[in-house]
Amino acid sequence: MSASGTPTERVAGERSAAAATAPSAAAGAAVAAAPATATYRVGLLGYGTVGSAFASLLQQRAEAIARTAGRRPELVGTLTRSRGDFDRILADSELIVELIGGVEPAREYLLRALRAGRHVVTANKLLLSQHGEELLQAAREAGVQLRFEAAVAGVVPVIRVLGESLAGAHVERVHGIVNGTTNFILSEMAAGASYEQALAEAQRQGYAEADPSEDVSGRDAAAKMAILARLAFGAPVHIDQVPYEGIEQLQTDDLLYARELGLGLKLIGTAERRDGGLSVRVHPAFLYGGHPLASVGGPYNAVTVESEAITEITMSGPGAGGPQTASAVLGDLVSTMLPPAAPAVPLAPLELVSDVPSAFYIHIELADRPGALAAVAQALGEQGASIRSVLQRGLGEHARLVMVIHPLLESSLREALRRIGELDFLRATPRAIRVIDEEFV
Ligand SMILES: NC(=O)c1ccc[n+]([C@@H]2O[C@H](COP(=O)([O-])OP(=O)(O)OC[C@H]3O[C@@H](n4cnc5c(N)ncnc54)[C@H](OP(=O)(O)O)[C@@H]3O)[C@@H](O)[C@H]2O)c1
Repeated sequence: MSASGTPTERVAGERSAAAATAPSAAAGAAVAAAPATATYRVGLLGYGTVGSAFASLLQQRAEAIARTAGRRPELVGTLTRSRGDFDRILADSELIVELIGGVEPAREYLLRALRAGRHVVTANKLLLSQHGEELLQAAREAGVQLRFEAAVAGVVPVIRVLGESLAGAHVERVHGIVNGTTNFILSEMAAGASYEQALAEAQRQGYAEADPSEDVSGRDAAAKMAILARLAFGAPVHIDQVPYEGIEQLQTDDLLYARELGLGLKLIGTAERRDGGLSVRVHPAFLYGGHPLASVGGPYNAVTVESEAITEITMSGPGAGGPQTASAVLGDLVSTMLPPAAPAVPLAPLELVSDVPSAFYIHIELADRPGALAAVAQALGEQGASIRSVLQRGLGEHARLVMVIHPLLESSLREALRRIGELDFLRATPRAIRVIDEEFV
């Protein structure tokens, strides 16, 4: 999206030559100083996995972009830890592309760039989820564009769709698989691998980093959901306001039992209207086979947007990778060459709601004594839970009860599990995983 909140929907190819060469008010003095060769001067911060892929893609696509957008994008400088000078790059560029990552010094560089009247394109979800408001405010004040398609779901154009195509829709809910690493691990576990085996395979194939904690803890997905929630609901959401649970505690047998109940497990980010407020959260969740996200396997990302007017749309594709992410960055670059289409949409703060109802899968290991099942059912019933489906596995001292219950407030579920945990025939702490039980046709 642009600083205006509703960027242009025109594509580069539709642009007239006159419009293409006209300086946008946005770029200010930098555009006025553009050389007669009609280049578009791009400063690149970061030359790692994405930065280097972006530099070569830019070189490959520069002529094609020049034909459609009227100017030829050209790198004027690159900054890494060991080379380049930020002040010089800033002075020479009209657009700054930030692919360093992390909060500082990226934040400081981008604020300086925006305040100096430069458009900014970034893939930095961490920075946006912590300082998005400050950066957007700086972009608004300077009348320049801040674009970040690559920060969420890689090449899947979810930022553009929420910020532009659906800018007029009353979005009810966004569900997303926004972390490819965890989706790959869960796909491996669904095929029978343990969590440790699946993680090792993800690292071997380059989908998980040596330290995978940002991904497997759910924090990376929480940062992305904060960004999506802001776009979908026009409400400022900080990553610290997004409760998240990861996948480290999941057990392969839960995935296998749940499959018998027709369920598949994903790490799901949700942002939805609830009780006049907004709930944003990340946790593992089971999906029934008909859900549009159920079939998204491997390192892929997908986002489903629900609204009364559009019912539901789902976008999916590669969520990461140098060339893929670079392609999204390049798309944003082209968009900054076009004038923003519409005035700013003001933010409307929505109260964040934390205790929300959900259907749950519950796994209980117990000694099968007379009255055991009745005691479990009673503890659930007292909290208002009703059972949708149930499986009993094993016999005698090694029985397991696996069930899905209809939607129940999370606080009530916790209380029911606490009481079940006190029953003396239990062999392990009961486990619960949320179930997204909407039916899609
Ligand atoms: N990798 C992906 O698939 C992917 C997908 C979506 C979004 N992203 C986002 O894209 C961004 C870049 O990720 P990446 O994977 O390309 O990272 P990376 O491979 O670690 O590269 C980072 C680059 O930034 C430079 N850098 C780091 N600290 C710096 C500093 N203080 N000053 C100047 N330069 C500095 C590094 O310089 P040196 O070369 O000197 O070390 C390196 O060139 C991140 O925000 C990431 O979240 C990545």
